[in-house]
Amino acid sequence: MRHSPINPKLFIENRERLKKLLPPKSLAVINANDVLPTNADGSLPLHPNSDLFYLSGIEQEESILLLAPDAFDPKLREILFLREPSEHLKIWEGHKHSKAAAQKISGIQTIKWLSEFPVIFRQLMCEQEHVWLNSNEHKRAAVEVETRDVRFARECQRQFPLHTYHRLARLLHQIRVVKTPVEIELLKEAVAITEKGFRRLLRFVKPGVNECEIEAELAREFIRRRGKFAYNPIIASGANACTLHYNQNDQPCRKGDLLLLDVAASYANYNADLTRTIPVSGKFTRRQKAVYNAVLRVMRASIAGATVGKLHLDWQKESQAMMNEELLALGLLKKSDIRKQTVDTPACRKYFMHGLGHPLGLDVHDVGFNTEPFAAGWVLTVEPGIYLPEEGFAVRLENDIIVTETGPVDLMATTPVEADEIEDLMHR
Ligand code: GLY
Ligand code: MN
Ligand code: MN
Repeated sequence: MRHSPINPKLFIENRERLKKLLPPKSLAVINANDVLPTNADGSLPLHPNSDLFYLSGIEQEESILLLAPDAFDPKLREILFLREPSEHLKIWEGHKHSKAAAQKISGIQTIKWLSEFPVIFRQLMCEQEHVWLNSNEHKRAAVEVETRDVRFARECQRQFPLHTYHRLARLLHQIRVVKTPVEIELLKEAVAITEKGFRRLLRFVKPGVNECEIEAELAREFIRRRGKFAYNPIIASGANACTLHYNQNDQPCRKGDLLLLDVAASYANYNADLTRTIPVSGKFTRRQKAVYNAVLRVMRASIAGATVGKLHLDWQKESQAMMNEELLALGLLKKSDIRKQTVDTPACRKYFMHGLGHPLGLDVHDVGFNTEPFAAGWVLTVEPGIYLPEEGFAVRLENDIIVTETGPVDLMATTPVEADEIEDLMHR
């Protein structure tokens, strides 16, 4: 792993938080993600399972975490199963964790090789009643590929049909949505790397550079700082920015165009999520600046509005009302458009058609709830935009914030966002 060692207190405390939610006689199982195949004998790099990482700090393929807080044998209350290192693995794949290394990372005392899993699992299943199995749940994810967790769930229920089974995901979402101080520090590192990448781009972007060259500059900055891209970067000049998930990143940036950059780093699996929109030639036109400042005002007001106790839906409605006013002033909406709007079809939707923000953490669109009010420790993105395909540009701005008892804290407060500051930095 590239990141510095993380204090295992994080993972120890996370396991304790989960155990508090489990009823007596429970057994929970969390599997690593699969190494996904490409073509022929190729494979993608492992994307660590967020839940396994959250509870153990382990990023190694095939690992299994077993928690049985009421196990008769205290040594079996927390067990991490790993691939057994061998000479063959060492030659072909390199380092695999030793038992001592895994103990140090996770704070788990009992580390076993995978070959011991079937016997120990059967023993614990005979003792326990409630089985908590993991699954990847996200209301927008319609995934066809089966995860190891799902295959495990099916096989487990086949072998032990008479236990009581539960969804571990609901409990994990409850605890993961509230970030602890150690997690906030890791998120801040991801944000700091992201800011460095963005500042580099302010010096690099000029008419004629290709979007892919911009991506390469960012990769250099992120990777040398031990981060990586948090998601496929969106580097969209001109009208490309009106495609919300544009990531071809292969077009030249032209004088007079705006460039939308939805680009961020992850560090130690914690993700930042940043969007900035800058003028390719270093100066906004009057029209571009007017639209830019409208989006900036909505972002700032929406950051201020992310307070404890608010429902996501109400937060979003407030931002849509502000956006309506901005679009009126820009001449993009008429009063009659606003009179005709309904709760489900706000007038601004023609120009601002996506959500205002989402939880952020070990996943970019992190686990969380829009049915529950904001609570202290939630980390959210705030990302209003105005998309004008007829005018050949779009503006989106996106910052990451923490909801706290004393009001929202902007994690990206030092990342340049004022139009004048962007112009200044691009001219230096
Ligand atoms: N970068 C993905 C998003 O903003 O949600
Ligand atoms: Mn983004
Ligand atoms: Mn986002």
